[in-house]
Amino acid sequence: MKIRTGTLAKFKAEGKKFSALTSYDALTAQIFDEAGIEILLVGDSAGNVVLGHNTTVPVTLEEMIPFGRSVAAAAKSALVVVDLPFGSYEIGETQALESSIKVMKQTGADAVKLEGPRYAQVKALVAAGIPVMGHVGFTPQSVNQRSGFKVQGRGEAGAEILAECLALEEAGVFAIVLEMVPATVATEISKQLRVPTIGIGAGAGCDGQILVWTDMAGLGDRAPSFAKKYAELRTILSSAASQYRHEVALGVFPEPERDFS
Ligand code: KIV
Repeated sequence: MKIRTGTLAKFKAEGKKFSALTSYDALTAQIFDEAGIEILLVGDSAGNVVLGHNTTVPVTLEEMIPFGRSVAAAAKSALVVVDLPFGSYEIGETQALESSIKVMKQTGADAVKLEGPRYAQVKALVAAGIPVMGHVGFTPQSVNQRSGFKVQGRGEAGAEILAECLALEEAGVFAIVLEMVPATVATEISKQLRVPTIGIGAGAGCDGQILVWTDMAGLGDRAPSFAKKYAELRTILSSAASQYRHEVALGVFPEPERDFS
């Protein structure tokens, strides 16, 4: 069954929790889709994970397109969402529309995601028929303004995040990512919103959860404390590469049975 934005609304109404993972290529998209992951986010975390930057800020729209196209081509059921990178929507509605139309036409994705209280942009995209996912709390594209990776919404600031979420819902988003927000705040927001929340470092009270796939699978050299490792891919891959190198050095690989006659 193809997951659509309406499917997520139905999940929320039924109290059914759902999962999202990032993906930047066809192979992982196929694996996660077959595992039943409901949303694949072509995150601009590709900037860190694939392109080797320290932040997502340098990522361009042109770099996101091939990642989005690979994931959308491989996903059969999952809803595919592509991040609008920093600099591709902040100027205003026209810029957001141009960037999103490019993403939708050139990747085959189902929706776009943008960060922060960009209500006018969300309204313009929704009016043009483009589903939009919001992203509040810690928004990585604003890392320089926020002076690092910090929990958002503690104390009185929790009410500001709730207000931002309600305004995004009013503007027309179909779901909102809550990143690094106290669990109590995220739970309250999830209760008050009609649209589903998707937590990352925001506790179990959200309607869905999302993780960067390399954190979830233990491939990266470090991961945030909120990200649970479900595998140790870095160790497995490193030992496979060492074993391969060792066998080549010994002349053990390739074995005669692999030869073409
Ligand atoms: O780019 C990304 O991976 C994200 C997730 C952290 C939600 O936006």
